[in-house]
Amino acid sequence: MRYEVNDPVRLTDDGRAILAIDQTLLPNRVAYIRLETPKEMFTALKRFQVRGAPCIGIFAAYAMFLQAKVFAGECQDKETFYQMMHTFAKYLSTARPTAVNLPWALKRMERTAANNMRRSFETIIEALRKEAENIHEQNIETCFTIANYGLVLVNDGDGILTHCNAGALATSRYGTALGPLILGAEKGMKFRAYVDETRPRLQGSRLTAYELTNAGVDTTLICDSMASLVMSQGKVNACFVGADRVAKNGDTANEIGTAGLAILAQHYHIPFYVFCPTSTIDVTCDDGSKIVIEERDPDEIKNEFFRSPVAPEKAKCYNPAIDITDAGLITAIITEQGINYPPYDFN
Ligand code: MRU
Repeated sequence: MRYEVNDPVRLTDDGRAILAIDQTLLPNRVAYIRLETPKEMFTALKRFQVRGAPCIGIFAAYAMFLQAKVFAGECQDKETFYQMMHTFAKYLSTARPTAVNLPWALKRMERTAANNMRRSFETIIEALRKEAENIHEQNIETCFTIANYGLVLVNDGDGILTHCNAGALATSRYGTALGPLILGAEKGMKFRAYVDETRPRLQGSRLTAYELTNAGVDTTLICDSMASLVMSQGKVNACFVGADRVAKNGDTANEIGTAGLAILAQHYHIPFYVFCPTSTIDVTCDDGSKIVIEERDPDEIKNEFFRSPVAPEKAKCYNPAIDITDAGLITAIITEQGINYPPYDFN
Protein backbone atom coordinates (compact mmCIF):
# COMPACT_ATOMS: atom_id res chain seq x y z
CA MET A 1 0.00 0.00 0.00
CA ARG A 2 1.19 3.53 -0.77
CA TYR A 3 1.27 5.55 2.43
CA GLU A 4 0.81 9.28 2.24
CA VAL A 5 2.21 11.91 4.54
CA ASN A 6 -1.25 12.87 5.66
CA ASP A 7 -2.26 9.38 6.81
CA PRO A 8 -2.82 9.97 10.53
CA VAL A 9 -1.68 6.43 11.36
CA ARG A 10 0.43 3.87 9.55
CA LEU A 11 3.05 1.24 10.22
CA THR A 12 6.66 2.38 10.55
CA ASP A 13 8.92 1.36 7.66
CA ASP A 14 10.55 -1.32 9.84
CA GLY A 15 7.05 -2.75 10.51
CA ARG A 16 7.63 -2.81 14.27
CA ALA A 17 5.49 0.08 15.48
CA ILE A 18 2.68 2.46 14.59
CA LEU A 19 3.64 5.92 13.41
CA ALA A 20 0.91 8.44 14.24
CA ILE A 21 0.49 12.18 13.94
CA ASP A 22 0.20 13.54 17.48
CA GLN A 23 -3.12 15.35 17.05
CA THR A 24 -2.81 17.12 20.39
CA LEU A 25 -0.01 19.29 18.95
CA LEU A 26 -1.91 20.53 15.89
CA PRO A 27 -2.22 23.07 14.39
CA ASN A 28 1.02 24.50 15.73
CA ARG A 29 3.27 21.51 15.21
CA VAL A 30 3.17 18.45 12.97
CA ALA A 31 4.98 15.78 14.95
CA TYR A 32 4.85 11.98 14.81
CA ILE A 33 4.84 9.54 17.67
CA ARG A 34 6.08 5.96 17.50
CA LEU A 35 3.92 3.49 19.43
CA GLU A 36 5.18 0.03 20.20
CA THR A 37 3.91 -1.25 23.54
CA PRO A 38 0.29 -1.90 24.61
CA LYS A 39 0.57 0.86 27.20
CA GLU A 40 1.81 3.37 24.61
CA MET A 41 -1.03 2.42 22.25
CA PHE A 42 -3.68 2.68 24.96
CA THR A 43 -2.33 6.03 26.15
CA ALA A 44 -2.28 7.48 22.62
CA LEU A 45 -6.03 6.79 22.37
CA LYS A 46 -6.75 7.99 25.89
CA ARG A 47 -4.87 11.26 25.33
CA PHE A 48 -6.48 11.89 21.93
CA GLN A 49 -3.14 11.85 20.18
CA VAL A 50 -4.97 9.43 17.89
CA ARG A 51 -8.70 10.12 17.57
CA GLY A 52 -11.74 10.10 15.29
CA ALA A 53 -13.82 6.93 15.08
CA PRO A 54 -12.55 5.39 11.79
CA CYS A 55 -8.96 6.38 12.54
CA ILE A 56 -9.17 4.64 15.91
CA GLY A 57 -10.36 1.51 14.09
CA ILE A 58 -7.39 1.56 11.68
CA PHE A 59 -5.05 2.17 14.60
CA ALA A 60 -6.53 -0.77 16.53
CA ALA A 61 -6.06 -3.09 13.56
CA TYR A 62 -2.36 -2.25 13.29
CA ALA A 63 -2.02 -2.55 17.06
CA MET A 64 -3.45 -6.10 16.92
CA PHE A 65 -1.04 -7.06 14.13
CA LEU A 66 1.96 -5.73 16.06
CA GLN A 67 0.95 -7.41 19.30
CA ALA A 68 0.27 -10.69 17.49
CA LYS A 69 3.95 -10.76 16.49
CA VAL A 70 4.98 -10.26 20.10
CA PHE A 71 2.53 -12.88 21.43
CA ALA A 72 3.58 -15.44 18.82
CA GLY A 73 7.14 -15.15 20.12
CA GLU A 74 6.02 -15.52 23.73
CA CYS A 75 3.77 -18.58 23.62
CA GLN A 76 3.92 -22.14 22.30
CA ASP A 77 0.32 -22.97 21.57
CA LYS A 78 -2.43 -21.30 19.55
CA GLU A 79 -4.96 -21.38 22.37
CA THR A 80 -2.73 -19.18 24.58
CA PHE A 81 -1.99 -16.95 21.60
CA TYR A 82 -5.68 -16.44 20.92
CA GLN A 83 -6.34 -15.70 24.61
CA MET A 84 -3.55 -13.10 24.65
CA MET A 85 -5.00 -11.45 21.55
CA HIS A 86 -8.43 -11.38 23.14
CA THR A 87 -7.14 -9.87 26.40
CA PHE A 88 -5.24 -7.18 24.49
CA ALA A 89 -8.33 -6.37 22.37
CA LYS A 90 -10.43 -5.99 25.53
CA TYR A 91 -7.82 -3.71 27.07
CA LEU A 92 -7.60 -1.45 24.03
CA SER A 93 -11.36 -1.25 23.60
CA THR A 94 -11.76 0.39 27.01
CA ALA A 95 -9.74 3.44 25.91
CA ARG A 96 -12.72 4.97 24.01
CA PRO A 97 -16.12 3.48 24.91
CA THR A 98 -18.41 5.18 22.38
CA ALA A 99 -16.67 4.97 18.99
CA VAL A 100 -17.86 1.65 17.59
CA ASN A 101 -15.10 1.41 14.97
CA LEU A 102 -12.73 0.43 17.78
CA PRO A 103 -14.48 -2.84 18.80
CA TRP A 104 -15.47 -3.39 15.16
CA ALA A 105 -11.83 -3.45 13.99
CA LEU A 106 -10.66 -5.43 17.01
CA LYS A 107 -13.29 -8.11 16.35
CA ARG A 108 -12.37 -8.23 12.68
CA MET A 109 -8.74 -8.87 13.63
CA GLU A 110 -9.68 -11.49 16.23
CA ARG A 111 -11.83 -13.24 13.63
CA THR A 112 -8.93 -13.26 11.18
CA ALA A 113 -6.71 -14.86 13.81
CA ALA A 114 -9.39 -17.44 14.64
CA ASN A 115 -9.97 -18.31 10.96
CA ASN A 116 -6.29 -19.08 10.53
CA MET A 117 -5.78 -20.94 13.82
CA ARG A 118 -4.79 -24.22 12.17
CA ARG A 119 -2.02 -22.55 10.21
CA SER A 120 1.52 -21.61 11.31
CA PHE A 121 2.17 -18.51 13.38
CA GLU A 122 3.90 -17.01 10.36
CA THR A 123 0.76 -17.44 8.24
CA ILE A 124 -1.47 -16.04 10.97
CA ILE A 125 0.71 -12.96 11.33
CA GLU A 126 0.73 -12.42 7.58
CA ALA A 127 -3.08 -12.73 7.47
CA LEU A 128 -3.33 -10.16 10.27
CA ARG A 129 -1.06 -7.73 8.47
CA LYS A 130 -3.20 -8.05 5.32
CA GLU A 131 -6.41 -7.57 7.28
CA ALA A 132 -5.09 -4.40 8.96
CA GLU A 133 -4.04 -3.03 5.58
CA ASN A 134 -7.46 -3.95 4.15
CA ILE A 135 -9.20 -2.03 6.94
CA HIS A 136 -7.00 0.98 6.18
CA GLU A 137 -7.41 0.79 2.39
CA GLN A 138 -11.15 0.19 2.60
CA ASN A 139 -11.48 3.30 4.72
CA ILE A 140 -9.65 5.38 2.13
CA GLU A 141 -12.00 4.15 -0.61
CA THR A 142 -15.03 4.54 1.63
CA CYS A 143 -14.18 8.16 2.42
CA PHE A 144 -13.79 8.98 -1.27
CA THR A 145 -17.17 7.44 -2.09
CA ILE A 146 -18.84 9.27 0.82
CA ALA A 147 -17.30 12.56 -0.33
CA ASN A 148 -18.80 12.08 -3.79
CA TYR A 149 -22.25 11.33 -2.37
CA GLY A 150 -21.96 14.43 -0.21
CA LEU A 151 -21.41 16.66 -3.21
CA VAL A 152 -24.83 15.64 -4.53
CA LEU A 153 -26.44 17.30 -1.51
CA VAL A 154 -25.05 20.82 -1.89
CA ASN A 155 -24.49 23.52 -4.47
CA ASP A 156 -21.34 25.39 -5.35
CA GLY A 157 -21.02 28.43 -3.09
CA ASP A 158 -23.08 26.96 -0.23
CA GLY A 159 -22.30 27.68 3.41
CA ILE A 160 -21.68 24.45 5.35
CA LEU A 161 -21.47 24.31 9.11
CA THR A 162 -19.49 21.49 10.68
CA HIS A 163 -18.74 20.39 14.23
CA CYS A 164 -15.70 18.65 15.72
CA ASN A 165 -13.41 16.96 13.20
CA ALA A 166 -14.41 14.37 10.64
CA GLY A 167 -11.61 14.96 8.16
CA ALA A 168 -8.54 13.00 7.11
CA LEU A 169 -7.12 13.19 10.63
CA ALA A 170 -10.15 11.31 11.95
CA THR A 171 -10.15 8.73 9.16
CA SER A 172 -7.77 8.64 6.23
CA ARG A 173 -7.45 10.96 3.23
CA TYR A 174 -10.75 12.78 2.51
CA GLY A 175 -12.49 12.11 5.81
CA THR A 176 -16.24 11.73 6.08
CA ALA A 177 -18.12 14.98 6.79
CA LEU A 178 -15.24 17.08 5.47
CA GLY A 179 -14.88 14.92 2.35
CA PRO A 180 -17.33 16.85 0.16
CA LEU A 181 -15.69 20.16 1.10
CA ILE A 182 -12.19 18.91 0.35
CA LEU A 183 -13.18 17.08 -2.83
CA GLY A 184 -15.26 20.09 -3.86
CA ALA A 185 -12.23 22.37 -3.43
CA GLU A 186 -10.20 20.02 -5.63
CA LYS A 187 -12.88 20.38 -8.29
CA GLY A 188 -12.73 24.17 -8.04
CA MET A 189 -15.97 24.57 -6.06
CA LYS A 190 -16.19 27.43 -3.59
CA PHE A 191 -17.89 26.32 -0.41
CA ARG A 192 -17.93 28.54 2.67
CA ALA A 193 -17.18 26.43 5.73
CA TYR A 194 -18.32 27.51 9.19
CA VAL A 195 -16.37 25.57 11.78
CA ASP A 196 -17.55 25.22 15.37
CA GLU A 197 -14.52 25.41 17.61
CA THR A 198 -15.94 22.42 19.56
CA ARG A 199 -15.36 22.96 23.25
CA PRO A 200 -13.72 21.66 25.32
CA ARG A 201 -11.14 19.80 23.19
CA LEU A 202 -11.29 22.24 20.27
CA GLN A 203 -11.13 19.65 17.51
CA GLY A 204 -12.95 22.13 15.27
CA SER A 205 -10.50 24.99 15.64
CA ARG A 206 -7.35 22.93 15.99
CA LEU A 207 -8.01 20.21 13.44
CA THR A 208 -10.93 21.02 11.12
CA ALA A 209 -9.87 24.61 10.50
CA TYR A 210 -6.32 23.31 9.91
CA GLU A 211 -7.45 20.71 7.38
CA LEU A 212 -9.89 22.96 5.53
CA THR A 213 -7.56 25.94 5.23
CA ASN A 214 -4.83 23.60 3.98
CA ALA A 215 -7.29 22.30 1.39
CA GLY A 216 -8.01 25.85 0.23
CA VAL A 217 -11.58 25.95 1.54
CA ASP A 218 -12.96 29.35 2.62
CA THR A 219 -13.03 28.72 6.39
CA THR A 220 -14.63 30.76 9.15
CA LEU A 221 -14.15 29.67 12.74
CA ILE A 222 -16.98 30.34 15.18
CA CYS A 223 -17.52 29.58 18.87
CA ASP A 224 -20.09 26.81 19.37
CA SER A 225 -22.46 29.35 20.92
CA MET A 226 -22.54 31.39 17.69
CA ALA A 227 -24.14 28.70 15.54
CA SER A 228 -27.69 29.95 16.11
CA LEU A 229 -26.89 33.49 15.04
CA VAL A 230 -24.93 32.39 11.99
CA MET A 231 -27.83 30.16 10.94
CA SER A 232 -30.37 32.93 11.53
CA GLN A 233 -28.34 35.20 9.25
CA GLY A 234 -28.86 32.78 6.36
CA LYS A 235 -25.18 31.92 6.06
CA VAL A 236 -25.64 28.17 6.43
CA ASN A 237 -27.21 25.97 3.74
CA ALA A 238 -26.42 22.63 5.38
CA CYS A 239 -24.78 21.06 8.44
CA PHE A 240 -22.26 18.23 7.92
CA VAL A 241 -21.14 16.11 10.88
CA GLY A 242 -19.46 12.75 11.46
CA ALA A 243 -20.50 10.00 13.87
CA ASP A 244 -19.00 7.82 16.56
CA ARG A 245 -21.82 5.28 16.61
CA VAL A 246 -25.12 5.13 14.75
CA ALA A 247 -27.91 2.98 16.16
CA LYS A 248 -30.20 0.81 14.02
CA ASN A 249 -32.90 3.48 14.11
CA GLY A 250 -30.52 6.28 13.04
CA ASP A 251 -29.96 7.86 16.47
CA THR A 252 -26.40 9.15 16.25
CA ALA A 253 -23.68 9.51 18.87
CA ASN A 254 -21.14 12.19 18.01
CA GLU A 255 -18.99 14.80 19.68
CA ILE A 256 -20.71 16.81 22.39
CA GLY A 257 -22.63 19.72 20.87
CA THR A 258 -23.82 17.83 17.79
CA ALA A 259 -27.35 17.27 19.12
CA GLY A 260 -27.77 20.94 19.98
CA LEU A 261 -26.70 21.86 16.48
CA ALA A 262 -29.28 19.47 14.98
CA ILE A 263 -32.02 21.07 17.08
CA LEU A 264 -30.97 24.51 15.85
CA ALA A 265 -30.84 23.29 12.25
CA GLN A 266 -34.41 22.02 12.52
CA HIS A 267 -35.53 25.36 13.92
CA TYR A 268 -33.98 27.24 10.99
CA HIS A 269 -35.07 24.61 8.40
CA ILE A 270 -31.49 23.77 7.50
CA PRO A 271 -30.74 20.18 6.38
CA PHE A 272 -28.64 18.23 8.86
CA TYR A 273 -26.47 15.46 7.38
CA VAL A 274 -24.50 12.72 9.15
CA PHE A 275 -21.57 11.13 7.28
CA CYS A 276 -20.02 7.83 8.33
CA PRO A 277 -18.74 4.53 6.99
CA THR A 278 -21.09 1.57 7.49
CA SER A 279 -18.57 0.31 10.07
CA THR A 280 -19.84 3.11 12.35
CA ILE A 281 -23.38 1.69 12.27
CA ASP A 282 -23.98 -0.58 15.23
CA VAL A 283 -26.71 -2.96 14.15
CA THR A 284 -26.73 -4.56 17.60
CA CYS A 285 -27.85 -1.25 19.10
CA ASP A 286 -31.57 -0.54 18.67
CA ASP A 287 -31.53 3.14 19.58
CA GLY A 288 -29.50 5.94 21.13
CA SER A 289 -30.56 5.21 24.69
CA LYS A 290 -28.35 2.08 24.60
CA ILE A 291 -25.18 3.96 23.65
CA VAL A 292 -22.57 4.43 26.38
CA ILE A 293 -21.67 8.10 26.74
CA GLU A 294 -17.96 8.67 27.17
CA GLU A 295 -17.04 11.02 30.02
CA ARG A 296 -13.76 12.87 30.07
CA ASP A 297 -11.60 14.42 32.71
CA PRO A 298 -13.59 17.41 34.11
CA ASP A 299 -10.33 19.31 34.32
CA GLU A 300 -10.38 19.70 30.51
CA ILE A 301 -13.07 22.36 30.78
CA LYS A 302 -11.12 24.56 33.16
CA ASN A 303 -7.53 23.98 32.24
CA GLU A 304 -6.89 22.45 28.87
CA PHE A 305 -5.63 25.00 26.33
CA PHE A 306 -5.62 27.85 28.86
CA ARG A 307 -2.58 29.47 30.47
CA SER A 308 -4.32 29.54 33.83
CA PRO A 309 -7.62 28.02 35.06
CA VAL A 310 -10.73 29.70 33.67
CA ALA A 311 -12.99 28.79 36.58
CA PRO A 312 -12.68 28.75 40.36
CA GLU A 313 -11.17 25.60 41.79
CA LYS A 314 -14.33 24.84 43.79
CA ALA A 315 -16.61 24.82 40.73
CA LYS A 316 -17.48 21.26 39.74
CA CYS A 317 -17.35 20.32 36.07
CA TYR A 318 -19.41 17.80 34.15
CA ASN A 319 -17.68 16.77 30.94
CA PRO A 320 -19.59 14.28 28.75
CA ALA A 321 -17.73 13.88 25.46
CA ILE A 322 -20.60 12.66 23.33
CA ASP A 323 -24.28 13.37 22.85
CA ILE A 324 -27.00 11.59 20.95
CA THR A 325 -28.79 13.23 18.07
CA ASP A 326 -32.31 11.96 17.65
CA ALA A 327 -32.83 10.29 14.26
CA GLY A 328 -35.84 12.56 13.72
CA LEU A 329 -33.50 15.55 13.46
CA ILE A 330 -31.29 13.99 10.79
CA THR A 331 -32.15 14.76 7.16
CA ALA A 332 -30.00 11.91 5.80
CA ILE A 333 -27.19 9.56 6.80
CA ILE A 334 -24.55 9.18 4.11
CA THR A 335 -22.41 6.04 3.96
CA GLU A 336 -20.33 4.43 1.22
CA GLN A 337 -23.50 2.56 0.26
CA GLY A 338 -25.47 5.69 -0.50
CA ILE A 339 -27.70 8.41 0.91
CA ASN A 340 -30.13 7.02 3.48
CA TYR A 341 -33.29 8.96 4.26
CA PRO A 342 -35.64 8.39 7.20
CA PRO A 343 -37.19 6.25 8.51
CA TYR A 344 -33.85 4.59 9.20
CA ASP A 345 -33.67 0.87 9.77
CA PHE A 346 -30.08 -0.31 9.41
CA ASN A 347 -29.38 -4.00 9.30
O1 MRU B 1 -12.09 13.69 18.83
P1 MRU B 1 -13.04 12.55 18.86
O2 MRU B 1 -12.39 11.22 18.65
O3 MRU B 1 -13.88 12.56 20.10
O4 MRU B 1 -13.96 12.82 17.60
C1 MRU B 1 -15.28 12.53 17.55
C2 MRU B 1 -15.88 13.15 16.33
O5 MRU B 1 -16.03 14.28 16.28
C3 MRU B 1 -16.28 12.51 15.18
O6 MRU B 1 -17.21 13.19 14.44
C4 MRU B 1 -16.20 11.11 14.93
O7 MRU B 1 -15.31 10.37 15.62
C5 MRU B 1 -16.27 10.73 13.53
S1 MRU B 1 -14.80 11.06 12.73
C6 MRU B 1 -15.00 10.69 11.11
